[in-house]
Amino acid sequence: MNNLLTPEPTLVLAEWTHHIRRSALRQLVAVVAQPGITSLAGGLPDPALFPAAEYAAALSEVIARDPQSLQYRPPLRRLQEHIVDMMAIRGVRCAPEEIFITTGAQQALQVLAQLLLDPGGQVMIEKTIYSGMRQVLTSLNPQLIGVDSDLREGLDIEGAAAALTAGARPAFLYTIPTGHNPLGVTMSAERRRRLVALAGAYGVPLIEDDPYGFLQYDGEPIRPLRALDDAWVLYVGSFSKILAPALRLGWIVAPPVLVEKLTVIKESIDLETSALTQRAVAAYLDTGHLPQQIARLQDTYRLRRDALLGALARHMPADVRWTRPDAGMFVWVELDASADTWLLLDRAVAEKQVAFVPGGAFALHGEDNGARNCLRLSFASSTPEQIEHAVAAIASLL
Ligand SMILES: Cc1ncc(COP(=O)(O)O)c(C=O)c1O
Repeated sequence: MNNLLTPEPTLVLAEWTHHIRRSALRQLVAVVAQPGITSLAGGLPDPALFPAAEYAAALSEVIARDPQSLQYRPPLRRLQEHIVDMMAIRGVRCAPEEIFITTGAQQALQVLAQLLLDPGGQVMIEKTIYSGMRQVLTSLNPQLIGVDSDLREGLDIEGAAAALTAGARPAFLYTIPTGHNPLGVTMSAERRRRLVALAGAYGVPLIEDDPYGFLQYDGEPIRPLRALDDAWVLYVGSFSKILAPALRLGWIVAPPVLVEKLTVIKESIDLETSALTQRAVAAYLDTGHLPQQIARLQDTYRLRRDALLGALARHMPADVRWTRPDAGMFVWVELDASADTWLLLDRAVAEKQVAFVPGGAFALHGEDNGARNCLRLSFASSTPEQIEHAVAAIASLL
């Protein structure tokens, strides 16, 4: 018989879980998966561009040759050496001991935040930002110091400097200097120099998130922050956008003393990144196919970027502004200040079977925070014809 005086026990969740917000991007995945939807929403690479046959050959060769590739194993030196060579192409000098292999860039962000942030600490971050980083920060609950970004040159260095002068002492500053997600902007060389100087002057580590660094389409390749400074920049790279996301393979470039600590933090999460995947990707890289693969991605995405910019110019009303990305996968569009892109999305899906991501999904604070009239369009996984159709459809609703 129940004791009527004892209340039923209820499940009590950790305090921070009350701050978990619904992920607008995940919800959109369901919308976009509906048949007949033309979507410029997802940040997904085009599956037709995955090097599937070459990777299948590398994977089966590795398993056949070395059953130990299915074992628990330390990080693969050969892969670290390949990453050192890839970083050299971007103008970064580093050693294999500085390459920390992760299960995707997302895990790199998680372990770096855990490494640097004390309870109640501060983080400096752009007000419109990759939602995955916001998710990392939710559980750590830091005080967020939001910095503006301008749509031509990237992070507002003056704003960051003003906050530091006023006494802010962030555990780190997080930024995506090349092919920003969602803004599509690439930080100018001049701002890069000023940012690393600022970081050095105030002793603020910079987390440089660079999954799109190899996807540059115009002009001289721009060098990452890590090429300008090896003391304060912690670089995060990824194979997701140049090979395939399902590999779940990324890396951090960090001083060896930090690599030791990161190893322990990572062990608590997943022990290690798949030894099999590390060997298969190293075997793929051994074949020398990567430069060709990157050139193919650049050529295809450049055409699609141009198709999107052309369609915006043809169809959008005169008061609409957008970024002109020279890297990455995204264009950020600002509509008239009174527009509400959550409502526009509902109409776009219902009336035109077209999808995009409302800007509010990337706002640091709250649901919209200055981005209610904005939207993010991805050009990576749609053909020029689909892009033309989708932009004309969105414009017809304005
Ligand atoms: C800016 C940014 N950082 C990190 C990630 C996560 O990358 P990964 O697939 O390597 O975990 C993404 C994925 O879209 C991203 O856009």
